[in-house]
Amino acid sequence: MTTESVTTAGTRADEAGVATTPVSHAHELTVVEVVDETDDAVSIALAVPDHLVSRFRYHPGQFLTIKIPTDRPGGAARCYSLSSSPHFENDLIVTVKRTPGGYASNWLCDNARPGLSLTVMTPSGNFTPKSLDGDLLLVGAGSGITPLISIAKSALVGGTATVYLLYANRDRRSTIFGTELHDMVTEFPTRFTVEHWFESDQGLPTAEGLMRSLELFSAYDAYLCGPAPFMEAARSALHGIGLPDAHVHVERYRSLSGDPFADVIIPSDTSAETVSATVELAGRRIELDWPRDTKLLDVLLSKGYDAPFSCREGECSACACTVRSGEVSMLKNDTLVDADLSLGLTLACQSVPVSESVEIAFDQ
Ligand code: FES
Repeated sequence: MTTESVTTAGTRADEAGVATTPVSHAHELTVVEVVDETDDAVSIALAVPDHLVSRFRYHPGQFLTIKIPTDRPGGAARCYSLSSSPHFENDLIVTVKRTPGGYASNWLCDNARPGLSLTVMTPSGNFTPKSLDGDLLLVGAGSGITPLISIAKSALVGGTATVYLLYANRDRRSTIFGTELHDMVTEFPTRFTVEHWFESDQGLPTAEGLMRSLELFSAYDAYLCGPAPFMEAARSALHGIGLPDAHVHVERYRSLSGDPFADVIIPSDTSAETVSATVELAGRRIELDWPRDTKLLDVLLSKGYDAPFSCREGECSACACTVRSGEVSMLKNDTLVDADLSLGLTLACQSVPVSESVEIAFDQ
């Protein structure tokens, strides 16, 4: 581990005091392929140039934040889960389903063509299995399949897990990746099972109905993604079959109200009192003066540190970190649950210091 000090000029300095260039999370990527998945969903493949390969490494289940061209004040940005697998696919693939009346999804479905350049943030998110060797229960509906198919493909190719997927859709025609899932079952018949739930035949999924489907999997690690009512039913079902909360991982749909691509500017004439902070980030130990009125992520980004983030709104947990000592408070938290808080997790994008000194580690 090396030690860094921070200059007051918005750049960072190494031990020799040499200023280094601030790290940008946003990059231009080019669309190389667009595939129609259903009547209202497309997969968009983005090529990663050689010099950005290390910046765009990702884990199955993570997402990209994409800037959508618009004249709207405040811009438009949306998070889309990666449906590709980092284990065998070179391009980054996001799958976008039209939201009725939604600007971003319709813009992408209407305008994504090979050659289009998009501004994209490096991958984020904690909806990713710690191991691809433990058995996985994947429960999704509609476009909630996107992170789940990335996890499934990765576990089948890069791990030894047995994977059970319950996938709910309106009907067979609206099922994204229907053919690909069928091919995966054919290739991995003893390790991968897909149970389709078609509302046209079975009605809306209920907690009781899902319990009947999932009762054999109470020892699996569960990953859930889909619309809110479906998630509620699925969580009740998993609770009903006795699957501990610590083994249930949930990915929510996000709609960003702010612009995570906007520059972070901290007034240099701030008179706010500071506390001393020690931050462990990517193997480095950073000593900071942390103003009491400034969020930790803003302090780090303004000084050029490569801290993880996506929404900057307390909704995605991409910036989650652990408070090792001292106390912070979060201005907003729409993502960490009690189990996370009891482990000392906090959101860097929403944390301001409370105690005189704080020690924090980005270890998630
Ligand atoms: S960046 Fe999304 S919660 Fe902090």
